[in-house]
Amino acid sequence: MDLPSFISALPKAELHVHLEGCLTPGLARTLAARNNLPLPPSLSALDQTGSSYSFHDLTTFLQVYYPNLSVLQTAHDFADLAISYLTTAHAQNVKHCELFFDPQAHTARGVPFPTVVRGYQAGINTAQRALGISASLIMCFLRDHSAEFAMATLMDSLPFKDVIIGVGLDSDERDNPPSKFAAVFQRAAKEGFLITMHCDIDQPDTLTHIGQAINEIQVDRIDHGTNIIDSPELISTLKQRGIGLTACPISNGIVTDDFKGKEIIELLRQGVRVTVNSDDPAYFRGYLNENMLKLASAADLNVTRKELIHLQRNAFTISWISSWKRNHFLQMLDEFERLTLGSEATQVLNGV
Ligand code: ADE
Ligand code: ZN
Repeated sequence: MDLPSFISALPKAELHVHLEGCLTPGLARTLAARNNLPLPPSLSALDQTGSSYSFHDLTTFLQVYYPNLSVLQTAHDFADLAISYLTTAHAQNVKHCELFFDPQAHTARGVPFPTVVRGYQAGINTAQRALGISASLIMCFLRDHSAEFAMATLMDSLPFKDVIIGVGLDSDERDNPPSKFAAVFQRAAKEGFLITMHCDIDQPDTLTHIGQAINEIQVDRIDHGTNIIDSPELISTLKQRGIGLTACPISNGIVTDDFKGKEIIELLRQGVRVTVNSDDPAYFRGYLNENMLKLASAADLNVTRKELIHLQRNAFTISWISSWKRNHFLQMLDEFERLTLGSEATQVLNGV
């Protein structure tokens, strides 16, 4: 089996994908037309030039990303966005997804909180029924807004605790450390939400932020966070507590100067529960298979097929699902390994 076929056939879990980052230009145009709205500026620029979006780091990416969300108005729109992503994920043999969403990016422009959550949940239900894919929602707070706004959003979410499994923190990290939201996450934990948060790549004070996430906020997971490679002490705590990292190679390569494959594989080989994910696939133009392939095909990393399976074992292990479901998926991976690798389990990928 060639490498792309191996990756396609591998049963996978996606733990770091922003639903708003799955808004393709095609779907945005459809929704703009349906809602009688003008195309957001970056989309009409895309149409005029026929080229790709223009951004080079997290801040400039977010400047394109948020204005595009104006086309999302009704529960039907949010449902269509979830169905669109889950259909692609299913086609890539993704078995389970934990989907970030940013309610404040919608409530701040007048869309009611229940419209967002009910729409996304309806889309998930439809995809689950039609495709059998498993999915759940993680609500992210926007860290470049106030802690008060985050707390009010947490309060809005309480009637939807049955459909939101956890909370996260995203958007522009500069000058917005995890500690700014300590009270919000403390309350979220008390309400029974699991906790993750972005520690984006190569941000100022990144090790301080990672330390706060682990020690002050007591996160269950970290999104990105691979700069931890520079702190053996934090790695040791991470491993002790079994905290996983959701890395996103293609995204890294776009918002920084490197895809950080070396760091991801080094952490994997040190026993950290690192995983591979797609972040904002409609913008970074790579879903889960493309992200796995990016890592697997880097000549200098010598990633083995056994390690690719290990990355997915990590993903199911740190996913927020029942132990019954986890065992089911892990058995699926065992079977896949037995069928594909047999005694060749340690073969080196490159040149195969
Ligand atoms: N929102 C959407 N994608 C993000 C990312 N990669 N980092 C921070 N916030 C985000
Ligand atoms: Zn992200």
